[in-house]
Amino acid sequence: MRLFIALDIDDSIRHRITRFVEGVRNFAPDGRWVKPESLHVTLKFVGEQPDTAVEKIKQELASISCASSEIHFRAFGFFPTPKSARVFWIGMETGPPIAQLAAVIDDKMALVAIPKENRPFSPHLTLARAGGGSGSPRWRKGDGPNRTFQLLQSKLAALPAPDFGTMTPHEFFLYQSQISPKGSKYTKLAKFALG
Ligand code: 2AM
Repeated sequence: MRLFIALDIDDSIRHRITRFVEGVRNFAPDGRWVKPESLHVTLKFVGEQPDTAVEKIKQELASISCASSEIHFRAFGFFPTPKSARVFWIGMETGPPIAQLAAVIDDKMALVAIPKENRPFSPHLTLARAGGGSGSPRWRKGDGPNRTFQLLQSKLAALPAPDFGTMTPHEFFLYQSQISPKGSKYTKLAKFALG
């Protein structure tokens, strides 16, 4: 099972982001745009795990007691860099508790032999990916200058920075990701309370 841990977003934010995407997606027709219902904020990418590991992962996640904090979704950017853009994302301004949550999840997952992150958490919400690239913020093999988001970047530069509003998450989720030619399908396997 391919697993990851993420925050879901409120309907009001999803609605604003969906309207924004409808207005700009034709400027990057070759991008793989995330379906509105699939938008999420990844806290930890777990990767492939045997089915037998899921219960242990759930147990560790259930033992987490973390505060929440308001998240302001605004502005955008590109991973790993604008010139070599593989991921088009929306930015998040948030207090220390969300980074703390990501760090605690990372620690807990290390207890079930999932490798720890070697880079600081970069909170973002992925809107589209170029080519077959994954959501990783860091440089990956195959990254390099490309034109997938070039027109989009020039159009966005002429617009005011978009603001999608604020929300305070009350839970986080263990998700399963199923990859198919039609795109990834994300299913919530379990829910854990925050705050
Ligand atoms: P992102 O979209 O928030 O960047 C499910 O596949 C999620 O896990 C993706 O949405 C992506 O998060 C993240 N992800 C997928 N592959 C990854 C990888 N190789 N490294 C880091 N994060 C990855």
